[in-house]
Amino acid sequence: MGTAAVKGKSLSRREFLRLSGQAGLGAVALMAGGGTLLPRQGGAAQGTGGMREIHLEAREVTWEMAPGKVIKAMAYNGQIPGPELRLREGERVRIVLKNSLSEPTTIHWHGVDVPNAMDGVPGITQKPVQPGETFVYEFEARPGGTRWYHTHFQEHKQLDLGLYAPLIIEPAGGEPFGFDREYTLVLDDWATGTGRPLPSTREGTAGGRGGMGGMMGGMGRMMEGMMGRGGMGGMMRGGNSPAYDTMTINGKAYPATQPLKVSKGERVRLRLINASADHSHVVRLAGHRLQVTHTDGNPLVQPVEVDALPIAPSERYDVRFVAARPGAWFLYCVEPGHAAAGEQVLIVYEGREGAKPEAPAEGLAGLDLWHYSLARGRDVLPAASGQERTYDLVLSGGMMGSDEWTINDKRYPNTDPLRLRKGDRARVRFRNMSMEAHPMHLHGQSFKVLSVNGQHLPAPIVKDSVDVEAHMGSLLIEFTAHNPGDWFFHCHKPMHMEGGMIMLAKIG
Ligand code: C2O
Ligand code: CU
Repeated sequence: MGTAAVKGKSLSRREFLRLSGQAGLGAVALMAGGGTLLPRQGGAAQGTGGMREIHLEAREVTWEMAPGKVIKAMAYNGQIPGPELRLREGERVRIVLKNSLSEPTTIHWHGVDVPNAMDGVPGITQKPVQPGETFVYEFEARPGGTRWYHTHFQEHKQLDLGLYAPLIIEPAGGEPFGFDREYTLVLDDWATGTGRPLPSTREGTAGGRGGMGGMMGGMGRMMEGMMGRGGMGGMMRGGNSPAYDTMTINGKAYPATQPLKVSKGERVRLRLINASADHSHVVRLAGHRLQVTHTDGNPLVQPVEVDALPIAPSERYDVRFVAARPGAWFLYCVEPGHAAAGEQVLIVYEGREGAKPEAPAEGLAGLDLWHYSLARGRDVLPAASGQERTYDLVLSGGMMGSDEWTINDKRYPNTDPLRLRKGDRARVRFRNMSMEAHPMHLHGQSFKVLSVNGQHLPAPIVKDSVDVEAHMGSLLIEFTAHNPGDWFFHCHKPMHMEGGMIMLAKIG
C-alpha cells in the first residue's frame, strides 16, 4: 500500500508523492490538494484489529484558488479536494468523520457498494452529524476503481463549497491497462462573485448527440427563445441558481494549477473526477490523444482513443496518454470560457520546463469526442437471479426558469420508489423532456448502460452516473439489485436535487 507503479518499480510513499507533484510534508493532514492519504504508521491513527482507520475533519477554511481569488470554503482536513484515499479492493476501513462545521454534514461514498447504513444520506440512512459530533463509517472498499466521496448534506451549499475528494480503490485482480505514472484531477465550478458568470451546461454531450453548435443545441436555443428565456448564461437560469464564474482543477484555478510532470515515452494515467455542481466539461490535452480506459471506475474491454472527453457532474473517467511529444502542453476544457475561468493545467515534459505552450483553443469543432456508445464495457456486475422489472422515468421541470424538477411529474419526497427484491434485474428507461441534461446517479450499486438515445450498446459500459441529454435524450440502464436498503437515485446537480429530482430504489 502506498506505492505506485512507476516504470515497473515499487515506490516509497515519499517518492510517489514527489512523482505526483505533491509536497510530501510527512503529516497526512498537511498535504496539498489531491495528495494521497496513506495509512499512518504508529501514533495518531493506527488500525484497530487490523482495520485501517482514517480521520477526516470537515471544517470551514479560507481557500486561495488563485492569486486574488480567496474565498470562504469548506474542506476535509483543510484541503480542497480533501485527502485522496487509496484503498485496496476488499480492504475494511473505518473512517472517522469529525464535524467541525457550524452546521450538520454527512459523507457519501460515491460509487462504492457500501452497506446502506454507511451511505451517508441524511434522513434516509443516518441522522445528520451535528456540529462537534463524530460519526464512524465502516465498510469494505469495493468495487475497484476511481470513486469519490463528498458531503450529502445540502450539497447545493456544502458540495459547492469544497467538501469532496477522490477515493481510489485499487482492484484486487490487478490493473487491466498498464501505465507508468498517474495523476488524479478533480474538476469543479465555483460561484465566487469575482468574475463573469459562465453559461451553464444545458445539453450534455456524453451520449454523443448534443453539444455546442450541434443540431439539438441549436434547437434548444430556439426553443428557449420561444419560451422567453433567451440567451444562455448563469443569470438566465432558475431564480436561485448560483452564478458560476471560476473553474478549478484540484482546487486551483490557472495560473495557480499545479503543473504535471511527465517523461518522454511514459504512459500517463489521469483519473478525472467531475465534482462540479452544474457544469459538464470537455477535457482535452493539446498535442495528444486520450485513451479512455474506465467509465466511473469500471474498465473497458479496450481503451477508446479520442481527442476530447465530455464529463458530466459526478462522472469519472480514467484516461491514458502516451507522452510522445516533448514540450509543455495545456490540459484544459474546450467549453467556451472554461479555460479562461481557470480550467487549465500545464503538462510539462522533463527537461522542457521553459517550453512555451500553445494557448487553449475553445470549441468542439473537428474533435473526435468520447461518447457512451463508442466503448465496449466488461461485464463486472453480479448476475441477477430474481425477477426482471422495468421502470419508465420521465425527467422534466425547469419550465420558464423554475427551480422545480420532477421524475414522472412528482417531486421528492413524493416521487414513487422503485421496489425491488435482492437479486432482481431492474431496467430503467429515462426520457428527458426538459431543456437541461441530468446526470442521474444510483447509490449502492453500479449499472450497465444498454442504450443511449436509441442506440444499442452491444457490450454495455458500467457506470454509476449517467448523463441523460436534454431535449428528449433517452437512456436504458440495467442493474442487479444486489445491495439491500433504501438507496437514493437522483440527478447529481444539487440545484436539481433541491428542486425535487430524487427518488428511492428500495431493495428488500
Ligand atoms: Cu455523488 Cu447522492 O451522490
Ligand atoms: Cu438534473
